[in-house]
Amino acid sequence: MSLLKTENLTFIYSVGTPFEHTALKNINVELDRGELVGVIGGTGSGKSTLMQQFNGLLKPTEGKVYVDGVDIWGPGVNIRDIRFKVGLVFQYPEYQLFEETVAKDIAYGPKNMGIEGEELTNRVKEAANFVGIKEDMLEKSPFELSGGEKRRVAIAGSLAMRPEILILDEPTAGLDPKGREDILRRIKEYQKETGGLVVIVSHSMEDVAKYCTKALAMSEAQIYMYDDVEKVFEKTDDLVEMGLAIPQISQVMKELHGRGIDVNTNIYTVEKAKQEIIRLLGGKRA
Ligand SMILES: Nc1ncnc2c1ncn2[C@@H]1O[C@H](COP(=O)(O)OP(=O)(O)OP(=O)(O)O)[C@@H](O)[C@H]1O
Ligand SMILES: [Mg+2]
Repeated sequence: MSLLKTENLTFIYSVGTPFEHTALKNINVELDRGELVGVIGGTGSGKSTLMQQFNGLLKPTEGKVYVDGVDIWGPGVNIRDIRFKVGLVFQYPEYQLFEETVAKDIAYGPKNMGIEGEELTNRVKEAANFVGIKEDMLEKSPFELSGGEKRRVAIAGSLAMRPEILILDEPTAGLDPKGREDILRRIKEYQKETGGLVVIVSHSMEDVAKYCTKALAMSEAQIYMYDDVEKVFEKTDDLVEMGLAIPQISQVMKELHGRGIDVNTNIYTVEKAKQEIIRLLGGKRA
């Protein structure tokens, strides 16, 4: 059974008003444990809306969302419990920090779940450590931190709830390349350690190629494709048409191929390109 599943999911904002807008059209998708899914798609394609459906922040206009086989809007289901199981980190979550100290901010979610005492303290420390927040920062006010540190604190707040499904809406937006890489590495580690499902919305195809196992491409309120990263990225021309920029390294390989060099064009990371070029050179390092 899939961990997360939608069935004919349609969502319309502001039904019956001049602002009515269909953000999701008949979405059928199944996401499994053990995957790190990268969600890509042009602006306004419905990515954030779908993420909010996944953890029950928005209710379908039609269709169903299942978490571990349970219809999250079915009778007798407490939606709060679903939100504990499916952690959602919003885009720019640092604007949602509001407690007096970093520790209290990280503790907010698990405390709401009823966790207290030593276990709460341990979870806070563990989550802070996981995202690279040092212990001496825990008693500081979140407002004393840099933007990147705040982002880490916000992510730690979700990790401390240990959700089986962790969803992050553009977790690296606005971070520098080093910070981006560090956060993504830690998110990947969380997925591996828990064996659960992690879903990341990203505008960077490079990041999706490097870290994710699957890619979910959205276009105009629908899923264009959900498959292994390589399979989705094979459809380069379609992705470009959807307004997505393919990784620079893929463009380089295509260009080389176009100039008559016998390289594989199905390459999305610098590491793979390196291997391919070494292969072309007859296995010798240049
Ligand atoms: N509260 C709302 N009322 C009406 N329409 C909305 C509302 N929120 C979002 N929309 C519309 O729904 C569509 C999908 O929005 P959504 O935020 O899910 O897109 P997205 O793929 O996350 O885009 P981005 O990459 O810019 O974050 C957009 O056309 C948006 O304008
Ligand atoms: Mg969005």
